[in-house]
Amino acid sequence: MILPGSASQSLGAALADELDEPLAVPETQRFADGEFKLRVPDAGGERAVVVAATVSAAAHVELLQLQDLAREAFDEVVTVLPYMGYARQDRAFRAGEPVSARAVARAVSTGTDRVLAVNPHEPTVGDFFDVPFEAVDAAARLADPLPALDDPLFLAPDEGAVELAETVCAAYGAGACDYFEKTRDYDTGEVTVEPAGTEPAGREVVLVDDIVATGSTMAAAIDRLHERDVADAYVACIHPMLADNARAKLAAAGVAGLWGTDTIEQPESDVSVAPVLAEHL
Ligand code: R5P
Repeated sequence: MILPGSASQSLGAALADELDEPLAVPETQRFADGEFKLRVPDAGGERAVVVAATVSAAAHVELLQLQDLAREAFDEVVTVLPYMGYARQDRAFRAGEPVSARAVARAVSTGTDRVLAVNPHEPTVGDFFDVPFEAVDAAARLADPLPALDDPLFLAPDEGAVELAETVCAAYGAGACDYFEKTRDYDTGEVTVEPAGTEPAGREVVLVDDIVATGSTMAAAIDRLHERDVADAYVACIHPMLADNARAKLAAAGVAGLWGTDTIEQPESDVSVAPVLAEHL
């Protein structure tokens, strides 16, 4: 049985379809103090697959509740984190800070037999879990919504994302890859990107990253590309977080197209990671 968190209902349904397994419809009871409680009346069977993007504090609590009820009603519990919240806080940057990704991983580990996470920011986040962990790479799916492009340049906004860009390029079957040098001022949040080694002038560019959060990274990259007279700049990401005014930032920068997957369910979630996850379940 697939047990979806409220931020992963469409993905849960797609996964149930792929695996031909029943889809639970959790009921939520809310209390005056702001707490809530879930119920899956027909829970029971061999395996529960809990699918929950942990996009908020409430989503984390919801995941723990789903795991807890699943533990009681099923022989095996598998937890799928389409988007793992706090994964980018994978080290203590200053003395006195927690490693938030580790704190979350430890909590998630208590309620499951294994964990799958789609393109976590760093696969090494898996070391924080106390149960078997698998990072699932869905980057090839990002090539599907691409229009017909003539010799496109797939660009990562920083060196860390160059493998994603290479995967999308390989799945598209044409074009070249490169990356930008990126620096971020952690006090102001301002992002600076230096032009890539490959000359982008006149080319159609597809920027590829694991996540678009505030959109600052991609907007800075698009600005720089337009200074260098690219034809069009598209943005493809695994996790379309698109927080705050990210869409406006990207539109103002002149993005030609923006899409992501359903690891975070948004209007821009043009491709589903369900088929890739199904291969691992
Ligand atoms: C950072 O290394 C990530 O890959 C993304 O580039 C970054 O987190 C995106 O954040 P934002 O959209 O806020 O610039």
